[in-house]
Amino acid sequence: MEDASILDELLVCRLEQGRKVVEPCTLVIFGASGDLTSRKLVPALYHLFRAGQMPDPFRIVGFARRPKTDLEWRAELREALGRFSRTQPVDGAAWEAFAANLHYCAGEFHDLAAYQRLKRMVRGFGHPGLAHNLLCYLAVSPSQFGGVVDRLSAAALLEKRSDDKAGWQRVVVEKPFGSDLTSARNLNAELTRYTHETQLYRIDHYLGKETVQNLLLFRFSNAIFERLWNRDAIEQVQITVSERHGVGARGGYYEEAGALRDMVQNHLLQVLALVAMEPPVSLEAEAIRDEKVKLLRALRVWAPEQVRSQVVRGQYKAGLIGDLSCPAYRGEPRVAADSNVETYAALRVLVDNWRWSGVPFYLRTGKALPLSASEIRIQFKPTPHVLFAAQCGPRLDANSLTLRLQPDEGITLRFNGKVPGTTMQIRPVRMHFSYDAEFGAYTPEAYERLLLEAMAGDATLFIRRDEVEAAWSFVDGIRAGWEDAVLGDAEFYEAGTWGPAAADALLARYGHTWRHPQPVHEPRATR
Ligand code: BG6
Repeated sequence: MEDASILDELLVCRLEQGRKVVEPCTLVIFGASGDLTSRKLVPALYHLFRAGQMPDPFRIVGFARRPKTDLEWRAELREALGRFSRTQPVDGAAWEAFAANLHYCAGEFHDLAAYQRLKRMVRGFGHPGLAHNLLCYLAVSPSQFGGVVDRLSAAALLEKRSDDKAGWQRVVVEKPFGSDLTSARNLNAELTRYTHETQLYRIDHYLGKETVQNLLLFRFSNAIFERLWNRDAIEQVQITVSERHGVGARGGYYEEAGALRDMVQNHLLQVLALVAMEPPVSLEAEAIRDEKVKLLRALRVWAPEQVRSQVVRGQYKAGLIGDLSCPAYRGEPRVAADSNVETYAALRVLVDNWRWSGVPFYLRTGKALPLSASEIRIQFKPTPHVLFAAQCGPRLDANSLTLRLQPDEGITLRFNGKVPGTTMQIRPVRMHFSYDAEFGAYTPEAYERLLLEAMAGDATLFIRRDEVEAAWSFVDGIRAGWEDAVLGDAEFYEAGTWGPAAADALLARYGHTWRHPQPVHEPRATR
């Protein structure tokens, strides 16, 4: 028998080798005064630094309108880290060492002279990697993307090309990538005027989540499940991303988005693509993205007259979530009193390909639901014949596999077991795998992983242009079916419930029922 400690050592060694090699570079954050920078980006970079994963050397430049000094910017970020860091208290010495690499460049996004100043700054860092390897993070509104890349290019900070010779320049953008197919195409055209597609990194933070990444590993490194991963064994799949909080202060943005654009077009369809895609030929970014886009293109686009029977939308009314009262969506700040925007969407999705023909994928997401949880439930077909009908009735509980993305990340297999005793009683039982129990509570934030991958030039976890466009084609079909119709009474749901009754009716028509995520911890207030 092999010595366990030697095996452990080998494993650690392989993981060390699996670390990304990141060349020295400068990361420029456009929109450095914004929420995303202080809440997510800088805490993520600080944690990468503490873990020894930042390149050596590196610099981070904040670019924003308001004039301030490096020291002032550092002080602001230090204060924000105290509030948003996933590790507390902040390690003072590590922060000081990290903060010495933070600089600030004040300028208007349209002002070429500001980009010239930025260029002098990065060239002045005195290292070829810092001067020529640039990761430009556009934490700004999509309407500003085009202007920023135009000026970057005019200042010769960004050169459109598909190789990394003599330095690389990459541009990271955040959703929304348009609001429909036409606007997404326009945005893509604007961005690719000055960047090659391989220089563009479109973030969907769901792809940075540890458990979402584990989907690939789970599917393609375990022989037993992949064999069952098709229409022969699977009856239906449910993907739920529920949120306990309402829209809160984000009403202005949400009025333009709604659940379909905010969550389904990106996060839910990305998770669906990973669950249902074919095995890629390799782990290369393009190989994986090729499979995802094939899957997205296989989604059946509902004709406008089918949308009513295949898609349910809803909006929350006032209600109690646990013991917290939640106002109606229409009463939230910056929301119109007669708003028709959906805060909930549930849809039956069919994948028209060989593997999934006839298997419904039920997707749902909503705000002000009873709890925040994201999970995928694979419901297997029942046994062909019920041997135990006399003891337990004509239908046995069918096996299911639940992949919990958050919280309580893990996997549960549900199957039937015999209740101990002299009678033949059958009851569903569960086999649980929990990340925390197995690996401890360490879960890096999605942005840590995504920033590291972007610096390392690995685009696997970022969305390619054709994926964005395929997802919009699907979502646009649904919007066409809604045709700005006014929400009916039955489309409202009370905050703190699992959405409108029509969502249950949708599944009931096909003989199915929603399986709601179960609370694992005491529900906590998130507003
Ligand atoms: C964002 C949406 O992309 O994802 C938000 O704009 C949503 O509306 C959030 O709340 C959910 O992300 P997470 O990581 O909290 O599940």
